[in-house]
Amino acid sequence: MSGFEFGRSDEALTGEVSRGARAVVVLPDVRQRGALGEDADARLEEAQGLARAIGIEVVDAFILPIRAVRPSTLFGEGQVEKIGVAINQSDAELVIVDGALSAIQQRNLEEKLSRKVIDRTGLILEIFGERAATAEGRLQVELAHLDYQAGRLVRSWTHLERQRGGFGFLGGPGETQIEADRRLIRGRMSRIRLELEQVRRTRGLHRERRQRAPWPVVALVGYTNAGKSTLFNHLTGAHVMAEDLLFATLDPTMRAIRLPAVDKAILSDTVGFISDLPTQLVAAFRATLEEVTAADVIVHVRDIANPATAQQKLEVEQILAELGVIGEEGSSIPMIEAWNKWDLLANDERAMRRDLIAAEVPDLAVVPISAVTGEGVGDLLELLGRLLTGGAQVLELTVPMADGQRLAWLHAHGEILSEFQTEDNLGAPAQRLKVRLSQRELGRFAQM
Ligand code: GTP
Repeated sequence: MSGFEFGRSDEALTGEVSRGARAVVVLPDVRQRGALGEDADARLEEAQGLARAIGIEVVDAFILPIRAVRPSTLFGEGQVEKIGVAINQSDAELVIVDGALSAIQQRNLEEKLSRKVIDRTGLILEIFGERAATAEGRLQVELAHLDYQAGRLVRSWTHLERQRGGFGFLGGPGETQIEADRRLIRGRMSRIRLELEQVRRTRGLHRERRQRAPWPVVALVGYTNAGKSTLFNHLTGAHVMAEDLLFATLDPTMRAIRLPAVDKAILSDTVGFISDLPTQLVAAFRATLEEVTAADVIVHVRDIANPATAQQKLEVEQILAELGVIGEEGSSIPMIEAWNKWDLLANDERAMRRDLIAAEVPDLAVVPISAVTGEGVGDLLELLGRLLTGGAQVLELTVPMADGQRLAWLHAHGEILSEFQTEDNLGAPAQRLKVRLSQRELGRFAQM
């Protein structure tokens, strides 16, 4: 995935958004002054997180209230000057505007500031481009990227020049550069759509095969940076990327795990949710979430220490509703909330949130956990096992050694938690067992 090309003749404005670039992040508060209120700070915080996600060094960040949108530059003249002062003081090479810029606004700002300027869509596209892991994710992101570029053909497109490979068969007499570029982009886009079709067919087959496998699927969902990858790693022992970066996962990752009473389950990590997803990326995002609709249990991982946790929960649930996972009468798939980063809370905050757990949607299961320290993760697994086996119970039994049939049956149908030799009340050698049985097996055992 190539980065953005700011194909002006000015060397400073060309090339990719590179790792380590120093950037000033500006959040335009476009509604009336302070309309974003306290949200604005959280939003500015998030924007900085997004920038850091692709290794950009944020050297300054501030909010600019927009009373009247300027078609030419979005910001007022004084505000553009303020940005100029900030980039000079902090020696920044890049300006990130956490909002939508038209092609014209972007170009004008770049001219006035003599710096590269990218908007929120551009930034998220960069991140998705870097993080897409599967063939489908990569194709979706490239498609989104091209779509975004096609709307911005006011510059020269040096990367397309490169792709053209100097054959010069395009661009007949009288054809403008932009038309040629547009044709190239359109051609590339239709090729990607064909490739996507192919990839989807293959993925559909994979999913069918998996559904025929007898293992239940547990899907992790959650707002970006909630800690899904960290939990995923903790549960699977796998080394999926987990850094203090957003979008460490664009594509679902699947691993087998063992749960209490469940021989094997498939754990599926999904892309992090985010507010104000650029429209070009919604399809890419949806595609990676399809797996969720086939899950047996959904674990909603929440960053419970984040001040915006309630808002994030709403956003996640809204998307799940759009996917048809949550309907009028609640979730059609059993859902657990894992209240992650519990370790970051002070004792009084923990107590407060515990009260909330009791008050929140009562039939929703909530488990406080820390994916980092492992606290509560056992409870989460326990609950998952219970949900998947539907009312399994742990029995403590003493079975005479002579009753080989019963012992064999318990070993075959239950999960043996502990076992040691003892004597029964008649003094005969016996086996002391702690065994977990699903509801169905429990019924069969009772009949034996
Ligand atoms: P996306 O891939 O963006 O969706 O993020 P994610 O939900 O997979 O988050 P990730 O696992 O990458 O974690 C984000 C950051 O939170 C990392 O720096 C983790 O170390 C940190 N983190 C995750 N879980 C916990 C936790 O329980 N406690 C603390 N203190 N930090 C955590």
